[in-house]
Formats: sequence, structure tokens, C-alpha cells
Amino acid sequence: MFIVGNWKMNQNLDSIESFFTNLSLKDSTCETWVSPQSLHVSTVIAKSSQAGKPFFVGGQNISEQDNGAFTGENSAESLQDLGAIFTLVGHSERRSLYKENHELLNKKTKQALSKNLTVIFCVGEQLEERKNGMTEAVLKNQLTEGLKDYPTDQLSQSRLIIAYEPVWAIGTGEVATTEQAQDAHHFIRKILMDDLGLQGDLTPILYGGSVKPSNAEGLLSQKDIDGALVGGASLKGEDFSQLAQIASKLMK
Ligand code: PGA
Repeated sequence: MFIVGNWKMNQNLDSIESFFTNLSLKDSTCETWVSPQSLHVSTVIAKSSQAGKPFFVGGQNISEQDNGAFTGENSAESLQDLGAIFTLVGHSERRSLYKENHELLNKKTKQALSKNLTVIFCVGEQLEERKNGMTEAVLKNQLTEGLKDYPTDQLSQSRLIIAYEPVWAIGTGEVATTEQAQDAHHFIRKILMDDLGLQGDLTPILYGGSVKPSNAEGLLSQKDIDGALVGGASLKGEDFSQLAQIASKLMK
């Protein structure tokens, strides 16, 4: 069971300090991960020793390139040099605001895996797509294109996590019903196994989209939901601690 914070382009040194001051993970047994801005990875790793339990740090995006003349990009290797163990790939904000397409996301995924970073691969449908009954087709397309030719040497390494984040639920306060989320997760697991030949049973699938302490229990208690990718509610140490406590209580 995972609680993964996606801090997006938020937090500064003062708010990171207060996050850790207010974080209490004493009784939590779930995985606690966070992706700050890349510039803060070292600071967060240094502070994470205050968490009282392993607290893993990752990036929000990487370049698909090794290194070279790509001004403004961050390489997987530099992220790893700082001590990051994972990166998000394909967050809906990357897909929509930065026009990252399937082909690019496929390259980024392979690049991260080749540098031994775990990938949290994000998928999710837009509101219009859900209304038009296209949710499953969209998810299938995002998964089969984004994870196409998944490197076979990585199959046994368990370095893949999927995050299902319906776009209409991200940062909107609107959350998928437990049934909508469970159905999508079940479908994703099936695609991983049947269409991609991946270890669907062993691949954690996280739900994301307006998760907060008040709605986490219902979502996390669903059979195919293995944790949450949390934006807004992950910024404060108190909320993050509560989410970790709820997830730990539900460890299956
Ligand atoms: P939210 O963001 O929890 O603020 O909706 C989730 C995400 O974008 O990963």
C-alpha cells in the first residue's frame, strides 16, 4: 500500500521544513513516497531522515535523452545522482500542458527503467471521454502505446507502478466514486496482463484525483487499489501523516 505525494510546482524551503516538522509516520507501515520539484530532491532526502521511517523521493518528469544539448531538461541519471528512486511519467499535466504524446512517454519510460528508476506511469480519461463511454478505450490506448515493447529484462524487477488519475478529478475536489475507481483499476490490471504480458497481479495500481483524508478510506479499501497518488493533500505534513495512517490500517 502506497501513499505517494506529487508536490507539482509547489513548496519552498520553508514549507518543506514545516512539512517534516508536522509529519508523523511513527505507526505507519505503508510505503511513503514523494516527488518534489527536482531542485528540491536533495533537500527532501536530507530532511526525510526526520520521518522516522524510509521515505522515498523521486522526480515528476525526466528527459527521454541520456544527456547533451537539451537546455532546461533533467536527465534520469542526474535525478538518480541526487538519490531519487523513481519518477512520474505521463502525468496528465505533462500530457495536456506540455503535449507529451504516447511515443515520447514510451521513450521516457524506457529511459527511466534503463537508469534503474521505478516508473509511476500515469493514465486517465478526460471528462468528455468518460461521458462518451470512452474511458476503457482511452486507458487501453494510453497503456498499450506508453508501455509498448516493455523491456523484458525489467519484467522481474517490479519497477513499474501505474497511477489511474481521471483528469476530471485532478485538483477539482471531485473524486471518482469507489465503484468507478475500482472498475478502472480492474480493467487496467487486465490490460497489463492480457495485452502487455506484464505481471498485472504484482503491479501496484494507485488512484489519484482529489484524494484527501476524508475520502481515502473508501478508495483504498477497494480490491484493486494499492495506494494513492496525492497532489493538494500531500503538501501538509499533517494530512500526509493521516493518509499514511489510513493506508497502513488497510494493508491487505
Ligand atoms: P490532486 O492531484 O490530489 O490535487 O487532485 C493529484 C495528481 O495530480 O497527482
